[in-house]
Amino acid sequence: MVPAFEQQFRDYLGVRHALAVSNGTAALHLALLAHGIKQGDVVLTTPFTFVSTANAALYVGAKPKFVDIDPETYNIDPNRIQEAIDPKTRALIIVHVFGVPCNMKPILEICEDNHIVLIEDACEALGAQYGGKKVGTFTTSCFSFYPNKVVTTAEGGMVCTSDDRVMEMVDSLRNQGRMGGEWLEHALVGYNYRLSDVHAAIGVAQMRRIDQSNKLRAEKARIYADELKTFQQVRVPPSAPGRTWFVYVVELDDRDRIGKELNSSGIECKPYFPPVHLQAPYRQLGFKEGDYPICEKVSRRTLALPFFTKMTRSQIRQVVTALERALK
Ligand SMILES: Cc1ncc(COP(=O)(O)O)c(C=O)c1O
Repeated sequence: MVPAFEQQFRDYLGVRHALAVSNGTAALHLALLAHGIKQGDVVLTTPFTFVSTANAALYVGAKPKFVDIDPETYNIDPNRIQEAIDPKTRALIIVHVFGVPCNMKPILEICEDNHIVLIEDACEALGAQYGGKKVGTFTTSCFSFYPNKVVTTAEGGMVCTSDDRVMEMVDSLRNQGRMGGEWLEHALVGYNYRLSDVHAAIGVAQMRRIDQSNKLRAEKARIYADELKTFQQVRVPPSAPGRTWFVYVVELDDRDRIGKELNSSGIECKPYFPPVHLQAPYRQLGFKEGDYPICEKVSRRTLALPFFTKMTRSQIRQVVTALERALK
């Protein structure tokens, strides 16, 4: 089932290689290893992401350095990347946050001009497109199939690449460093980052409905936006061209109070994301409040509302009514 899942993924994205792995975090770790990122290198990424994007840099002994975000899209701000590059900068991991594609044109140009490896963390954006091209096809990319994702295998991930050498490295490293020899012959110090056939079988069934799921989620987002259009205090998420809908995240002035009120009225919602650079291990590395002010401001205001593929209009209304009450 693993080769079947990989084949389906390759066909869907239109990539040369797709390698199934145990989760999205493993995919990021292997992508950096396969591109030779190592101790002493600097890896740029966004502070507004799930923690494992930056952790992957730490796993390979590299130093993560963040670049502040664009407050409109919540993605890394391409205008700030160049100034963050120093002689040790070897890689940039971009994240298509919440399904919104990054502005690829300037990002590709900066990476090419500065000879920097570009990795796409497309964990939240399966099916999203930039300029008519699916994200995850611009360079080596990583996907996650964690249960909150649009396609899930319970746990799972994928590395996609058009580079044969990267493919060979990922293929070996996910499988204990085996490289075509005997089963107990190990060419590299690898990992057990394989995806099981059982998980892959779930993926095959899930992939059959990816377009339908993305369509239904876009419909739910439209209903939310419509229901919220008269709410002056609520900033609805951008309906950027080519985006998919991983979550429905609104911005509010009084986010913490409103979040608590929604929770106590039985509507589960969460602040999303807290900045990575303010997580304990990153504070220990010297990062602090004020380092990335746009991300910090957005992180204080964003709230993920209930959102799922089969959500009904009346369930959305129920959330909106509770939100209206909390705002008053
Ligand atoms: C942007 C991003 N990167 C990485 C990951 C890590 O994926 P996983 O949980 O499958 O390890 C996730 C999701 O969990 C994510 O949303």
